[in-house]
Amino acid sequence: DWDMGFFISTAVEEIRRKVGDKQVLCGLSGGVDSAVAAVLIHEAIGDQLVCVFVNNGLLRKGEADMVLKLFRDHYNIRLQYADAEDAFLSALKGVTEPEAKRKIIGKVFIDTFYDEARKAGEISFLAQGTLYPDVIESKSPSGGPSATIKSHHNVGGLPEDLKWDLLEPLRELFKDEVRAVGRELGLPEEMVNRHPFPGPGLGVRCVGEVTKERLDTLRDVDAIFIEEIRKANLYDDIWQALACLLPVKSVGVQGDERTYEEVCSLRAVTSEDAMTADWYRFPPDVLQHASSRICNEVKGVNRVLYDITSKPPGTIEWE
Ligand code: XMP
Repeated sequence: DWDMGFFISTAVEEIRRKVGDKQVLCGLSGGVDSAVAAVLIHEAIGDQLVCVFVNNGLLRKGEADMVLKLFRDHYNIRLQYADAEDAFLSALKGVTEPEAKRKIIGKVFIDTFYDEARKAGEISFLAQGTLYPDVIESKSPSGGPSATIKSHHNVGGLPEDLKWDLLEPLRELFKDEVRAVGRELGLPEEMVNRHPFPGPGLGVRCVGEVTKERLDTLRDVDAIFIEEIRKANLYDDIWQALACLLPVKSVGVQGDERTYEEVCSLRAVTSEDAMTADWYRFPPDVLQHASSRICNEVKGVNRVLYDITSKPPGTIEWE
């Protein structure tokens, strides 16, 4: 059977041998895979690892702080933090078409990442949290079913002139094995068990125009939804839970006041591998609590929908 301790010691040796005295750059996304890759590589080569974390302004509530605290303060990893919110939001201004958003977000990310890389000095390797399923998906003739449906920017999106060798210490692992490695390396349970989150972040959940104000609204909605799921002890039963802010206004009433605000939709799915997914049957009380808290606590939202579309025909994300 798979022994995580053995995997780690073997991987550490292999990383040391491969890297020698060179430097490795690793982009942190806030997700499990890049976190585990970074901590594993740090275990192997310490300060020869430089991490870059790009705040694209499309992150969840509190996410940037969490990443900074964990990697900088707790693990003492060299971490360059790029606060690029303005660059992303100005590039996204007025854009509503999903693929256009994804392309812009991917491009600004690459530009920002390259700028940070130049500041990092002489780099020989780029570390990525590529997993076995990513390897399979990007190798299939079509580039993988989801790649043809939406442009992902993890594997296929690296620029042509990439001058670094890739370091992908997790490329033989499945997700549950990566989680086990993360636990073994002392990553907090909250990080290890985190639901997947798309590279383009809340940009593809802010349906319609992506503005700071709408993103803040969506962040609050998302935080309440996830909090209620955790409170009900259901987080680990769900593959992924997400909220979207829709560019639709509806009339509501609060006290004696008529309101006219945007609508949000909540979505939770179960899945094995994200290729297919089933909508999650919540106990009605959980949805009730989330809905009433969202309408009461979040300015700008007065109606909550629950998405009961499976995949197929719906994708997990809305865009
Ligand atoms: P869809 O919406 O295609 O999503 O059913 C399947 C899974 O992939 C995630 N996703 C992404 N992950 N970069 C990522 O790293 C992306 O561009 C991206 N788009 C979707 C999505 O959250 C779900 O887990």
